[in-house]
Amino acid sequence: MPVLRLDKIISDCGYGSRKQVREMIKDGRVYVNGRCVSLPASTCCTESDIIELDGEKLNWNKFIYIMLNKPAGVVSATEDERDATVLSLLDERTQRMRVFPVGRLDKDTEGLLLLTNDGGFAHRVMSPKSDITKVYYAELAKPFTDKDILAFKNGICLGNGEVCLPASVEPLGGCSAYIRIAEGKYHQVKRMAAACGNKVLYLKRISIGKLELDTNLKQGESKLLSEKDIEKVFW
Ligand code: URA
Repeated sequence: MPVLRLDKIISDCGYGSRKQVREMIKDGRVYVNGRCVSLPASTCCTESDIIELDGEKLNWNKFIYIMLNKPAGVVSATEDERDATVLSLLDERTQRMRVFPVGRLDKDTEGLLLLTNDGGFAHRVMSPKSDITKVYYAELAKPFTDKDILAFKNGICLGNGEVCLPASVEPLGGCSAYIRIAEGKYHQVKRMAAACGNKVLYLKRISIGKLELDTNLKQGESKLLSEKDIEKVFW
């Protein structure tokens, strides 16, 4: 059971910098197991001790994992000079927990984006070795032909000579389709469609592994993921 300094625990929970939290503790705003503790260097067990700030019970986790329904118009980055980032869609406390997007969706792509402060998890999700299938719903300029579908299956050769791993296209009627890929190359789906002489007009990621975008999440909304949800990414 992790035993950590009180100021670190509270800061990790996103309530402020270590300096700000030290002041909160000195001001008598923090209670541990019902008793006011005014020493920032006091240590607490993150699992068994009950820590309260201004009467609110804290829930410390080593890492957090977030599902965001990304809208178009925001960039998958932690900071950007021109555009709003996906972080701006999270509440301030969560932003202070140093989360970052796991991979990226283009500015105009919508749907499932994971955010975390766990670098190991992000690395595992993005590694081609993990072979995680991502499913996209796409609307195209024209329907894919049988020849295109076969080309996806055999591995599309992109404009620069790069060859993609086998992918699948499931036509949904009209000009829409589900596209399943196991990699995350730059603009991959758009470039695969372009290699077939087609154009993606709308793109939304709907799953990563067996983790599906929660249809209750409106655009721009997010939710914390449970351990069980996180495991689904690797199924
Ligand atoms: N492929 C793309 O072209 N864009 C995305 O945002 C994701 C996959």
